[in-house]
Amino acid sequence: MTKPFPGTMDFLGYNAPSRVECDVYDLVVEGELPAEIAGNWYRCVPDPQYPPMLGHDTYLSGDGMVCCLRFEDGHVDLKQRYVRTTRLQSERRARRSLHGLYRNPYTDDPSVRGQNRTVANTTPIWHGGKLLALKEDAHPWALDPHTLETLGEWDFDGRLRSQTMTAHPRLDPATGEMFFFGYEASGIATRDVAFCVADRDGRLVREEWFEVPFVSLMHDFAVTKDHVIFPVPPTTADRARIEAGGPHWIWEPSKDMYIGIMPRRGSVKDLRWFRHPARSAFHFMNAYTEGGTVHLDFGCGKVNPFPFIQEASHLKVDPSQMAGSFVRWSFDLSSPGTEIRETVLGPGGDMPRIAEKDAMVDYTTGYYQTFDPSVGPPLIAGPVGAGFNTILRLNVKSRQLTALAMDAHTTVQEHVHIPSKRPGHEGYLAFVADRHDKWLSEIWIVEAAHVERGAVAKIQVPLRLRVGVHGSWVAAESLPAPR
Ligand SMILES: [Fe+2]
Repeated sequence: MTKPFPGTMDFLGYNAPSRVECDVYDLVVEGELPAEIAGNWYRCVPDPQYPPMLGHDTYLSGDGMVCCLRFEDGHVDLKQRYVRTTRLQSERRARRSLHGLYRNPYTDDPSVRGQNRTVANTTPIWHGGKLLALKEDAHPWALDPHTLETLGEWDFDGRLRSQTMTAHPRLDPATGEMFFFGYEASGIATRDVAFCVADRDGRLVREEWFEVPFVSLMHDFAVTKDHVIFPVPPTTADRARIEAGGPHWIWEPSKDMYIGIMPRRGSVKDLRWFRHPARSAFHFMNAYTEGGTVHLDFGCGKVNPFPFIQEASHLKVDPSQMAGSFVRWSFDLSSPGTEIRETVLGPGGDMPRIAEKDAMVDYTTGYYQTFDPSVGPPLIAGPVGAGFNTILRLNVKSRQLTALAMDAHTTVQEHVHIPSKRPGHEGYLAFVADRHDKWLSEIWIVEAAHVERGAVAKIQVPLRLRVGVHGSWVAAESLPAPR
């Protein structure tokens, strides 16, 4: 008998497990869905198959579910399938959870010791003709882009030496290359980081290793036309602590945040390290090189925002401490110092996205999310507890902001940017709106240039879509014909 899930924020509200694999053809659309929107929007959703073995766990441990929204000729179809990871298959055979603490295999049931324990639940990426479900603790899992059938673990034809791959690879729109890295590359709590490049066909063409100053939760990185940037925030891991059955991550504010920058056409031997008092950073909106200066734009927090990491770090965090800013850090590579120049661009927030064509180069516009307390009290949605309720369009040059605020009963999941084929058109943002009053989800399509005007189309979903992590838009012309 499967017991109820725990009554904690990781399993309540919009974080309540869904576990629904489904196909819904022709969702109902209110408003005018722009006919030019054609393609697949893939989303990764942590969705635990079973209640946690130890009686508690984080949202981040949920088994990977991939949701595909297919747009064609003004119609939208929904498909959801679990990634058939080794872990999910073991759990289903046993009809219970077999895994213990987040990223701690020493707390697992003996029956699964030594097995691949990734949940492949963070980001779906389309590259080199492959749809990959990524989680930063392991290799990706490949899926059929049309049926979402799991094809298996993907190690780049046996070439990838790193045991891990970030869930935030960076695609260069100019060259088609995929840049990525893996931290803890040679095993749990190792300081090894692998820096890798796959060519436009998905072939691994470069893998270089280096050591970071300490083992860090390096969730994302950034690439420009000329540089690669590795932020190393002080959320740290320790092998002895993990082997003793303790938490993988703790926040160590006594340590600095390090930022390593190397020339893209150089080597990891050329890494130059900058330092800043402890900051938390998960997602980087964009970066570019301007003369001898590298600019990096992101939501910067003062403390790690994840409740389970704060608890493991014995921190009692006042919510006012959590509010950071959206900033630009500028690194002057022409001077010998390690100083970082900070410019505040907007209020604190996360989930930054840009038009893919703007990646790695000087750009003007980005979109991110924030929590505006004037809209309403926090609602449970997502990994840190309170969901965002406002989408911001930011002009990084003028710092002008426009906002789309939800109502007091609605939170927003990560938006994707969908490019337009119309000249001079900024494209669209699509996101799942969590209707906490209806217990159903809606998909909103907004004009990227005019987020403040609200949805041009709302797509009704006849079920609740559990809060996902990241998504990717893949234009129809990029996809192969169905098999
Ligand atoms: Fe992420």
